[in-house]
Amino acid sequence: MKTICPHTYARPEATIQHLELDLKVDFLSKTIRGTATYSLNPTVAEKIYFDIHSLDIHSIWINGTYATTDFEIGPHDSLLGQALSIRLPQNTLSLTIHYSTREEAPALQWLNPEQTTEGTHPFLYTQGQPIMTRSWIPIQDTPSIRITYGAKVTLPSDSGMMCLMSARNPKEKSQDGVYQFSMNKPIPSYLISLAIGNLSYQALNDNMGVYAEPVLLEASAWELEEVDQMMHAAQEICGNFLWEQQDFLILPKSFPYGGMENPRLIFITPTLLAGDKSLVSLVAHELAHSWSGNLVTNASWNDFWLNEGFTVYLERRILEMVYGEETAELHAFLGYQDLMVELDKSSEKPKSTHLKLNLQDQNPEEAITFIPYEKGYFFIKEIEKLAGRDTFDIFLKKYFEDFRFKSITTEQFLEYLFENLLDPHKISFAAEDWVYAPGLPQPFFLPLCHKFKIVDEAIPKIVRADAKTILDTRQWETQQWIYFIRKLSDNIQNQDLLTMDQSFGFSTSGNSEILFHWFLNALQSEYYKTLMQELEQFLTTVGRRKFILPLYEGLIRKGEYAKAKEIYTQASKNYHSIARNSIEALF
Ligand code: BES
Ligand code: ZN
Repeated sequence: MKTICPHTYARPEATIQHLELDLKVDFLSKTIRGTATYSLNPTVAEKIYFDIHSLDIHSIWINGTYATTDFEIGPHDSLLGQALSIRLPQNTLSLTIHYSTREEAPALQWLNPEQTTEGTHPFLYTQGQPIMTRSWIPIQDTPSIRITYGAKVTLPSDSGMMCLMSARNPKEKSQDGVYQFSMNKPIPSYLISLAIGNLSYQALNDNMGVYAEPVLLEASAWELEEVDQMMHAAQEICGNFLWEQQDFLILPKSFPYGGMENPRLIFITPTLLAGDKSLVSLVAHELAHSWSGNLVTNASWNDFWLNEGFTVYLERRILEMVYGEETAELHAFLGYQDLMVELDKSSEKPKSTHLKLNLQDQNPEEAITFIPYEKGYFFIKEIEKLAGRDTFDIFLKKYFEDFRFKSITTEQFLEYLFENLLDPHKISFAAEDWVYAPGLPQPFFLPLCHKFKIVDEAIPKIVRADAKTILDTRQWETQQWIYFIRKLSDNIQNQDLLTMDQSFGFSTSGNSEILFHWFLNALQSEYYKTLMQELEQFLTTVGRRKFILPLYEGLIRKGEYAKAKEIYTQASKNYHSIARNSIEALF
């Protein structure tokens, strides 16, 4: 049997082309109920296969009439959920599935009012990537199948909430609670998304804007002011923006990621709001996905680096254009450090350090390491360096043009790379060594960062009581502080850490990255004991997995199992199940 990708029950003989949702959202029972109607690509197959997970399937109609057809639901697999196989009578053009979701659907996070910033309305949002869309829509849940979609979503009429999707969106609340959506570009299932809450909208320019809870709207719009320049930069590098409108949604604290590139409606962590625009590289990253990821998509999660490595490369190109070469290099160097740590951690499973992965029988969540992001980045950067910027840029634009609205494998990329760049320019490059072998081929590009040299020179002076009076660190960027904190060795005295903390205010920083790195460093020594209250506060108010998981890990490594458990017991009700699952694996 020909399979499409390791994480779907769908088969290539019968596939969907367009989806039309008609859903009612009930915040009391925490369920969504309704119909999903699919137009099919022409097929002679007798059956079509969908993925479902924790869904109740009520009935299935053919060609929009009451004529039902037989269906079967396969055994439950803890990773993939269940196969829904539907008999296709001859001349079946469309199918309508009547279904409802369950409260425990992993793609859905239902928040009570007290879990939002304003505390007045409940909130619901979805997270589809990598294989969770199947828990709120019966779907062929593989990034290799692309569909257009439309939706009608009905909220309780007096809910006072706004409903948004990764589609054409409203700017105001509807009076009757009914919302209509359309996404007329073919997208993979993991990009279908929904968010409902007490939201308001502010335009940033003609085709960009931000949604947030009203109290956060002004601060959010301010923090995002530079997206206008980022969009110009991105289009100069990648070609025209093809999604018409680009809005951002600031999520409640529990959002487990930094950002999620849902088309037309990028989801963003509220930890972005540092008050000084210092964390906006995250926004450049998600924006870059409008090309790498959303326009040209990895065909399976084995090819995840095609989404993320390319995106990190584009993120740094955007940073370079908007903030200068040096800023981009600071990011690249910190990425290099992350990559080294990851390679070190993975020495026992070298295959997990290949760019091309084999995730058969594995959770695609396993792919979320620094390998696809940073090894992927250095791979693309190496190609750029060999070809030269100008030649590479022509290739890059053509790549997005030739593969737009397509899903491709690593192999297709390599073939294209050789045919369109390496061979015609007689560049000899062992690309396969990057893709199908562990670790890092040497040598490769590594930036020299003047601003990190400044930090290197400052460290011996700073680790002294009168640090602040002798050094002017007012111009230091977030990346310099991260570099600085990472460089503090573990034999440093607690007293020095305390003094430093008092002069620079790390543990009271409004910058979530600095705060996180400071806590992580404190967990290398006994200094964390002094910071227990601040750490606890951080862990109970932040839901971003990248921050909280390593901190729980650090506590446990320190033998603070009971304390970690105590904090977790209190905090976990506010975490997303994605974060909860990862943390519970530690306990
Ligand atoms: N698409 C990813 C997030 C993701 C990956 C969710 C895999 C589920 C499965 C997103 O673009 C991303 O990479 N987010 C990063 C931020 C970025 C600046 C590196 C994150 O959330 O930390
Ligand atoms: Zn990404």
